Amino acid sequence: MNNAVLVEDHGPKWVVRLNMPERRNALGRAVVEGILGAAARAATVRSLRAIVLCGAGEKAFCAGADLKERQGLNPDEVREFVTLLNRSFRAIETSPKVWIAAIHGACLGGGLELALCADMRVAQRDAVLGLPEVRLGILPGAGGTQRLPRLIGMARAKELILTGSRISAKEALNLGLVNRVDEDHEAAAHALADEVCEAAPISVQQAKRAVNLGWDLPIEEGLALERECYEVTIPTQDRLEGLRAFAEKRAPQFKGE
Ligand code: COA
Repeated sequence: MNNAVLVEDHGPKWVVRLNMPERRNALGRAVVEGILGAAARAATVRSLRAIVLCGAGEKAFCAGADLKERQGLNPDEVREFVTLLNRSFRAIETSPKVWIAAIHGACLGGGLELALCADMRVAQRDAVLGLPEVRLGILPGAGGTQRLPRLIGMARAKELILTGSRISAKEALNLGLVNRVDEDHEAAAHALADEVCEAAPISVQQAKRAVNLGWDLPIEEGLALERECYEVTIPTQDRLEGLRAFAEKRAPQFKGE
């Protein structure tokens, strides 16, 4: 772990904060390695349930690729870096934990591609989102061309990707690109994380798996996958606790067992 990404431990919740505000939390090697390290560690901590992913400083969640660092890279180094970037983003997307991106200020290029890997997104009112890569002689290379159309549909995604235009938090909300807009984006993300933490951990994990793996399968295969995920919850103590708590009219105490 390095100082480019900070991890705060709040028990069942973590805050993972990109911490290069002087570069608007751009995705240089140190930040990307920090993200990968945090995601790898998160996957091993049993008591951890949800992660708020955010950026340090007033100005940006993340300004995308570190364009200063990129200038010093030769084509092979760019290729190698993009592979690392994709690996770190995929670690969030496939994480057994729930990731919630709390977005403020600039959320551009790789910054938006990072947010797309989270399970939910909350934006502050002043946030600006976009994929400006085609205006820089490249194209979104960390999953943007694949994840954005899956999230908001082909036509809307193409508009953002092919024009490289920037949109407001409100527009992002209308597109379904963010789940919520709130003056206090981090508080709103924590509120969502708290709700996730109240739920049964194995249920949440399997539900994320069912949605992620199943959404583009033919319906019969998707339903079979859902059944497979559901099956994991049947022998759990938490399922019995859920039934008991309902009968006793109290809140359930889930243990992830
Ligand atoms: N990579 C490296 N450094 C970056 C950066 C990036 N993507 N984005 C900003 N910075 C640096 C600036 O170079 C500047 O450094 P300096 O103080 O040494 O000159 C510092 O961060 C502050 O940037 P500035 O533009 O003055 O801040 P701002 O708050 O007014 O604007 C942005 C922030 C993010 C809107 C603006 O910097 C910007 O548009 N950045 C490029 C975003 C982009 O196109 N990303 C996609 C990459 S594919």
